[in-house]
Amino acid sequence: MRILFIGDVYGAPGRKMIDEYVPKLKQHYKPAVTIINGENAASGRGITEKIYKGFLSAGAQAVTLGNHAWDNKGIFEFIDHAKTLVRPANFPAGTPGAGYTMVKINQLEVAVVNLMGRTFMQPTDCPFKKADEIIEEVSKRTPFIFVDFHAEATSEKQAMGWYLDGRVTAVVGTHTHVQTADNRVLPKGTAFMCDVGMTGPYDGVLGVDKEAVLYKFLTSMPVRFEVAEGREQLSGVVIDADPKTGLATSIERILINEDHPFYQ
Ligand SMILES: [Fe+2]
Ligand SMILES: [Fe+2]
Repeated sequence: MRILFIGDVYGAPGRKMIDEYVPKLKQHYKPAVTIINGENAASGRGITEKIYKGFLSAGAQAVTLGNHAWDNKGIFEFIDHAKTLVRPANFPAGTPGAGYTMVKINQLEVAVVNLMGRTFMQPTDCPFKKADEIIEEVSKRTPFIFVDFHAEATSEKQAMGWYLDGRVTAVVGTHTHVQTADNRVLPKGTAFMCDVGMTGPYDGVLGVDKEAVLYKFLTSMPVRFEVAEGREQLSGVVIDADPKTGLATSIERILINEDHPFYQ
């Protein structure tokens, strides 16, 4: 059972990379399920219904979010109907939307879970205890549990990896927009990686126009962040899981940009 996951899609450059490469990646890797983190898909801030549907048309079966989930106010119009769009599960009770979804593939189901960290981020409920609750619910239905842990600190991400080792298929990080090289299968069978990286501008600062970011660093003046122009990149990961146990057997990084071309 193979999972393809694409990290934080940032603005139009990220969406362009999804349209161009997700069909190619699906043809090459033949994943059973494809998941996209779309928290920055609309101009770096949130997601629209049109973009969400575009990701499904491009070949994804589920879309995860993060701290930018509510940045595009139109989300409140459609999130409760968007059955495969998930926001962090540890947002307070009563928050619109759902924290996980079940993706059906033939006879199999994959639980796609979104959790958000608390270190250097806005306050939320405990992601560790929320993970316990969700695993308790979904493990009755499926051994395939994919966790997108949207968090800032590598320490909190590693801690979550160890906490869930042997209980879920994968814990992969999003949010920092820089791909880490620590992809590994933990001893009890959970695929782990601190951050999958960002899909969008290659020449900006985490997706933002570099001149605006430099101005802010050099002057400490407020500045409006715009999506960077120029070349693009795609960051992702491919995870293989044992069809019986749901535990991971491998996790491979994907990075596509002008310095790392994609060869089919
Ligand atoms: Fe992001
Ligand atoms: Fe984020």
